[in-house]
Order: sequence, then structure tokens, then C-alpha cells
Amino acid sequence: MWAISTMNILFSNHSLTNYRKSLSKSLAFVPTMGALHQGHLSLVEEAKKSCENVIVSIFVNPLQFNNPDDLNKYPRMIQKDLELLKHAGVNAVFLPSYETIYPPNQEFNIQLSNNSIESVFEGHFRPGHFNGVIQVLHRFFSLISPHEVYFGQKDLQQCMVVKILIDEYFKEIKFNIVETKRENSGLAMSSRNMRLTNDEINVANQIYQSLLLLKNEENYSQLACELEIKRLSILGLKTEYLNYVNLPNMEITSIKNGNQAIVYAGFLGNIRLIDNLLL
Ligand code: PAF
Repeated sequence: MWAISTMNILFSNHSLTNYRKSLSKSLAFVPTMGALHQGHLSLVEEAKKSCENVIVSIFVNPLQFNNPDDLNKYPRMIQKDLELLKHAGVNAVFLPSYETIYPPNQEFNIQLSNNSIESVFEGHFRPGHFNGVIQVLHRFFSLISPHEVYFGQKDLQQCMVVKILIDEYFKEIKFNIVETKRENSGLAMSSRNMRLTNDEINVANQIYQSLLLLKNEENYSQLACELEIKRLSILGLKTEYLNYVNLPNMEITSIKNGNQAIVYAGFLGNIRLIDNLLL
């Protein structure tokens, strides 16, 4: 274990267990894959409001990447991340190796019984993605035993999957979703934005404009979505999906009923961007 002023940096399960045992007050957990931005820091900020201690994990989880190129190019900047977390007042950072999370002598095959959501939208375009997210989070939640966990609304479908994971395996953990942080242009903050050029950022900004336009439509028609997909495609965005959906099941809808969202995913060059707005 290292300590940067008052922030503990934990590499092994052993040091994590010792740290966990030393705490008498509440613990919030913010899982991340690093390359931190204001969106992650807003999760920490919210976590600090309700718990005395905050632990953040940084682990790029190979199991949830269906595209090896995306995994290889995923930005990694650990020193900068640690500085940001220290500045944000985080108490501990868990920096496990692959073997710490997935010891070679153990099997990782946690399944959700309520699993239909795993194969639509993100699950359809990124086969195995949610299975990888479920394995790593089940492992983290078991090792860390947090009282509360914090997730960003930007990964809306992930939030719905985590809610099911918690309902089925970790009823004692309080689940929190924090609103998406945006640039002034409306672009949702994402670690992948670091890979965009200035010209590409101008194009990516249009995703939010499409979502806003669709949010304000009188009717939730697929035709309106198709028109926006066309407009974005002329600008260079290859949309995978743009739909009105019901929550929490993510079924496509055309009827306004309250608990709904518009969800987007698409490629700009080889960078995949997602966003959503709650309706
Ligand atoms: O949202 C992410 O960054 C990842 O999916 C998570 C929750 C850290 C699991 O690897």
C-alpha cells in the first residue's frame, strides 16, 4: 500500500481488505477505467456528500471490450488520475492488476436471471460487453463491500444492468445515478473524447443537438429519429442506434409515458460515442 499524503493507494486484495477493516464509517465506491474527467469527479463529489469515505477503482477491464483496438487505444494516464483524485479528496484508490481481479484458479461466470436487457442496444452492438461489466462489478462489490455505489447516467443501459445486479446479488448496497456532465457545447464528457480532433469535436457536438431536438418532438416517432440519423450521417457520424426507449427495460417506444429516454450510439471514424437524454 502507498499513501499520497492522505490518499491510500491499494494494489492487492490484502491491502484492500486491511483498508476496509480499518474503516468504521460509511464507504462509497466509484468504479472507473481511469482517464478521468469532470464526469468522474462529479461522481466523487456526490459520493462525498453521503459517505465519510470514498474509494475509487481504476481498472481497464479487458472482459468488457468486444473490440481489441478500443481496448488497446483506451487512454491510460494513471499519474494524472491520481493527482485529480487526491485533489478531489478521495480516501483510497484501488489499482488492481488483471490477476488480482481474475485469479487464474477461479471461474468468473456470474449471470443475471433478469437478463433480457443485456442483449439489446449496447449489448447487441458490443456482444459480451455487459457480461464483462457484470463480472468485474460483482468482483469489486464483493471485495470492497461498499455501502453505496455511484454510476454516471451517460452509460444509461449500464446503470439499468447494475441496478439488476444489485437487486439480485447485493441488496444491501445503495445504488446512485449521477447526471451526465457536459462540455459547454453539450457534448457528453467521455474518456474517448480525448481521441477526437477539434474538427471531430464539432461534429460530435451535434449528437446532443439531435437528442435535444428529439426530446422536444410532439410525438416520439421513429421517423424523427431516422431524419436525425440522416443529418448526422451527412456530417460523418455512423449511427448504430437512435431511439426512444422505455426504462428500465430499454424497449423501443413511440408512446409518451414518463419514465423514458432517447439513446444514441455511433462512430466518428473509429471512435465510438454514446449519449442519452431522460424524457
Ligand atoms: O463505466 C465504466 O467505466 C466501466 O464499465 C466500469 C463500471 C468501471 C466497469 O469496468
